[in-house]
Amino acid sequence: DGTRRPLIAGNWKMHGLKVPAARTLGEIIEGYDPALRAGVDLLVCPPAPLLHMFSVVAVGSRVAIGAQDCHAEPLGAFTGEVSAEMIADAGATMVIVGHSERRAYCGESDGVVRGKALAARRARLTPIICVGETRQERDAGQALEVVGTQLFASVPDGPCDFVVAYEPVWAIGTGLTPTAQDVADMHAFMRDGLCKRFGAAADGVRLLYGGSVKPANAGELLAIADVDGALVGGASLVAADFLAIAGAA
Ligand code: G3P
Repeated sequence: DGTRRPLIAGNWKMHGLKVPAARTLGEIIEGYDPALRAGVDLLVCPPAPLLHMFSVVAVGSRVAIGAQDCHAEPLGAFTGEVSAEMIADAGATMVIVGHSERRAYCGESDGVVRGKALAARRARLTPIICVGETRQERDAGQALEVVGTQLFASVPDGPCDFVVAYEPVWAIGTGLTPTAQDVADMHAFMRDGLCKRFGAAADGVRLLYGGSVKPANAGELLAIADVDGALVGGASLVAADFLAIAGAA
């Protein structure tokens, strides 16, 4: 679908102290030249303490800034949490919700993830809703079923104002990726599920692939039908690699 502009999103996870991080962001902004800008959207998701500085630095560059998580409530007695409103106030425009690391380490259920996606909508942020099966689930032949269930329960009803990222848990940080056919099957399956639920509006939803995306495999992964971009971890910490992935889109 030519109406979906590719999105290359960098999830920095818990990496980034302000001086080296600002240098990397500067290199990304510098490298986001008119040719690249014409074809692809770029998003950088640094740790929360850097959101405001990054948003200020990125003004005018068209590099978007996003957060890696948000709380479902707008404010209140939730020590240590950051609300979607605070993220928007810091200048960010997107937020990752339901990353598998948060599902695994913080026990986030599909219902919690849906609440966070709704919070993002309330704050006028675009949520990037993550789903993905474990190795065990794939080996058991349950990948489609597991991801279908996660997707259905994690995506809120209402407008198609979200992005979905398919990240097989076993592909994250491992150097392993599914076959192109497996990615194609999963993305077609997700598109189909969203279209059944939301109708034609689901055609506009960007479906990202994530998990060991590198400059060397980005071309192949991004050429797959219904892969509308990538959610990049490790390789997004190196400006040249992140830009090379964007160039492949
Ligand atoms: O959210 C992106 C991430 O989980 C993928 O990480 O390092 O395999 O690209 P990586």
